Amino acid sequence: MKFYIETYGCQMNVSDSELVGSILLGAGWEPAPSIDAADLILFNTCSVRKHAEDRVLGRISNERHRKQLKPALKIAVIGCMAQRMGKRLLDSDIGVDYVVGVDRYLELPALLDQPGGQDTDFDFQQFYPGLRPLHGNKTCAFVTIMRGCDNFCSYCIVPHVRGRERSVDFRQILSEVRACGDNGLKDVTLLGQNVNSYRWGGYDFPRLLRELNQVDSIQRLRFVTSHPKDLSDGLIEAMAAGGKICEHLHLPLQSGNNGVLKAMNRKYTIEVYLRLVQKLRAAMPEISLTTDLIAGFPGESEADFSDTLQVMREVRYDHAFCFKYSEREGTSACGLPHQVPEAERLRRLQEMIELQRGITLAKFSAQTGKDVEVYVESLSRKSQQMVSGKTRDYKIAVLSGDATDIGKLKTARVMKATAGTLICA
Ligand code: 5AD
Ligand code: SF4
Repeated sequence: MKFYIETYGCQMNVSDSELVGSILLGAGWEPAPSIDAADLILFNTCSVRKHAEDRVLGRISNERHRKQLKPALKIAVIGCMAQRMGKRLLDSDIGVDYVVGVDRYLELPALLDQPGGQDTDFDFQQFYPGLRPLHGNKTCAFVTIMRGCDNFCSYCIVPHVRGRERSVDFRQILSEVRACGDNGLKDVTLLGQNVNSYRWGGYDFPRLLRELNQVDSIQRLRFVTSHPKDLSDGLIEAMAAGGKICEHLHLPLQSGNNGVLKAMNRKYTIEVYLRLVQKLRAAMPEISLTTDLIAGFPGESEADFSDTLQVMREVRYDHAFCFKYSEREGTSACGLPHQVPEAERLRRLQEMIELQRGITLAKFSAQTGKDVEVYVESLSRKSQQMVSGKTRDYKIAVLSGDATDIGKLKTARVMKATAGTLICA
């Protein structure tokens, strides 16, 4: 019997899909080479914005026709939407057979022996120890170091669907990172909703990084996502010490206005955030900074929004993920008065994207003439004689090369840039 997983949302879902793949493999299932060959299609879903949910619901009902050709075909919804919607998915007419939540993946094989069903209880002790995730990518790996989130940013559904924050046993992380390196996955990204609040026994996040920096078989160490409120001097020091720890930090700002940040329950002010940026750049002048921004949070005035644009101009992020506010049932911001009209949210979003595009292009172009270290991940999609990978500071780069370069570090000179790719000689 063959399974096929389609993954939506963040890297945590990518990592969870690898875990589910490993669990199914252990239970005698095989990965299907394509969706057409599958006996079981799993949709690993995201609830962070309504748009993401609507897309998946559309995808699932599009695949329903396959059941006419193959009546034994089963469809499972896993991940955040499974957790959030539960029985509503089973009751809908889009053809869902199983609904399995984020802490129940070990129960999946047993559930699949039933004709259908739901398992979405939380289990905050669940860390999925001893499993070797079925890494889809052959050069880069995600390693989950924390599950859940306790921050309750007022717009965010994640704490409601992924449960309480807990840190994975350091020994489990170390053994997974070693295994990644030993299997040729030399660029490792540590994952958690708030990685810099990692705590396990005597280990905090800087110590975890320093220890993993000693793993010989890997070349690069990254991590997402960091919360500004937990960005300690110790972490900046650990990053500045370099080694395998890459010069890139994803530091979500969300808004550049203190009133909005407070309403978002972000627990820092813009002054504190800018001071962190200063410290980071003092310790690592070449560090690349990326962020997440939300346009049109309830009550955000035009002036509040301009504050965000102003901080974007001041910080000059290498890249920003910009979103328009999406109201999520169950979050504390849901139902707040002074909702920003949809058209206005969209206008603000576009203004943000436009501003960032110019900054990103300038940042990438400023690399022209420099030598960068690229970890080659794949053949370039555009040309047979080119390969593609990432720089240490998380920029996509293309350079000449062939399949034998995959998994190797190459130094290349940047000849020109677009707002997304460094083109190297
Ligand atoms: N609406 C819009 N964006 C959101 N994010 C989280 N929740 C929402 C929401 N309700 C964004 C935040 C977060 C990123 C992963 O998604 O910017 O950092
Ligand atoms: Fe959501 Fe905030 Fe937790 Fe990130 S830190 S997952 S935005 S609640």
